[in-house]
Amino acid sequence: MEAIKRTKIVDLLKSDAFGSTVNVKGWVRTRRGSKQVSFIALNDGSTINNIQIVVDVEKLGDDYLKPITTGASLSVNGTLVQSQGKGQSVEIQATEIEIYGTADPNTYPLQKKGHSMEFLREIAHLRPRTNTFGAVFRIRHNMAYAIHKFFHDRGFYYFHTPLITASDCEGAGQMFQVTTLNLADIKKDESGAVIYDNDFFGKQASLTVSGQLEGELAATALGAIYTFGPTFRAENSNTPRHLAEFWMIEPEVAFNDIYDNMELAEEFIKYCVQWALDNCFDDIKFLNDMFDKELIARLQGVLQGSFVRLAYTDGIKILEDAVAAGHKFEFPVYWGVDLASEHERYLVEEHFKRPVILTDYPKEIKAFYMKQNEDGKTVRAMDVLFPKIGEIIGGSEREADYDKLLTRIQELNIPMKDMWWYLDTRRYGTVPHSGFGLGFERLLLFVTGMANIRDVIPFPRTPKNAEF
Ligand code: 4AD
Ligand code: MG
Repeated sequence: MEAIKRTKIVDLLKSDAFGSTVNVKGWVRTRRGSKQVSFIALNDGSTINNIQIVVDVEKLGDDYLKPITTGASLSVNGTLVQSQGKGQSVEIQATEIEIYGTADPNTYPLQKKGHSMEFLREIAHLRPRTNTFGAVFRIRHNMAYAIHKFFHDRGFYYFHTPLITASDCEGAGQMFQVTTLNLADIKKDESGAVIYDNDFFGKQASLTVSGQLEGELAATALGAIYTFGPTFRAENSNTPRHLAEFWMIEPEVAFNDIYDNMELAEEFIKYCVQWALDNCFDDIKFLNDMFDKELIARLQGVLQGSFVRLAYTDGIKILEDAVAAGHKFEFPVYWGVDLASEHERYLVEEHFKRPVILTDYPKEIKAFYMKQNEDGKTVRAMDVLFPKIGEIIGGSEREADYDKLLTRIQELNIPMKDMWWYLDTRRYGTVPHSGFGLGFERLLLFVTGMANIRDVIPFPRTPKNAEF
């Protein structure tokens, strides 16, 4: 076959170099046609759109074309021409086709018919080849890029926090332990506690649930930082919004109070949504048309107007009024309760019809590091609540006062041996500072309109599932 430099389909579809000889490589989506002419829809992952290859059956031979079935991989030389057919502007009249690999129609699972999302999860090694997952993973890449660009353009430094750690940032006890101890022969002391002296790190270590504490060390030196990395939580919640391994973005900014923090969160999330609309429109349009006819409207909706800012106490009042008026929630509502996603979504979708930033939560349901309010009952927490998702961001202003922070750590029985370095930020040159964490997959759920968080990460890790 004549060697011609390959062009990606995304570029060919924009080209008007009609009559030129081109090479394209990709995977067959479909092949149809007659005795005289065969039409191959070819995709190379560079766009949701396929390019149509028109083949003169007589010229290439019927037998040669037979193995060109859905999933087969090809290299095609041909002439770029203006398309006669509907639905595409250019196509390629093939002169030569090389078949790299076939895909036996009797066993290749991704035939033309639509598959359930559950089935596709079972073949997560192949699902990137579908239109849907191609779209989702292209959007995922673009969102990651937008996030780095947003922070870089605003003078934030990307700071790498450790994945293996000895501190439980959120204090929720949802950590995966990291050990090289022989599990069949664990040594314990008289009280029955495991002896870690001979473990790899010489103490109990785990996978991080958040990079925040180390992020605060960096923010109180570099001014403004963000982390963006894998995060692990052994929470046994099999929901469409929880993963055991997810990615989190955590900005942390010295001298920001909670109001600055809210502004940053709102600007950040709007920037990401706008970026998706501007840069991933073909993929979003596909997802909108195939799965969720309100997706584009919902994305445009959050860009309009500002997010509601509401104190937890006022939010509870609204929910209690709703209950009094006959609205049924599965879980009870009262001051002090950790809101369930049905409550969060009621505020956003039914009551305000806009994203809500809920602030000043009861200290008992929030982490030790949050700034304590004068009332002695609440802390300067802020959760950003989104339509269809519920909590998409969790953050706070941090307690900057050494004594108050220490008292809270002691009240919660957090071992000091894990915290001495964190407390040093408050001992030396302490400053007001704030930050938050955005769940990357929660953002992707919103932007793609997918219904299940397992479908916006290539290889989901959930209870009883670590395949691939
Ligand atoms: O609210 P969280 O637990 O807050 C923190 O970890 C803070 N240290 C963040 C900070 O202030 N720097 O988690 C933050 C976000 C949540 O709002 C949610 O979007 C996401 O992380 N998240 C999860 N996403 C997927 N699966 C899980 N199991 C998640 N847990 C939290
Ligand atoms: Mg939270």
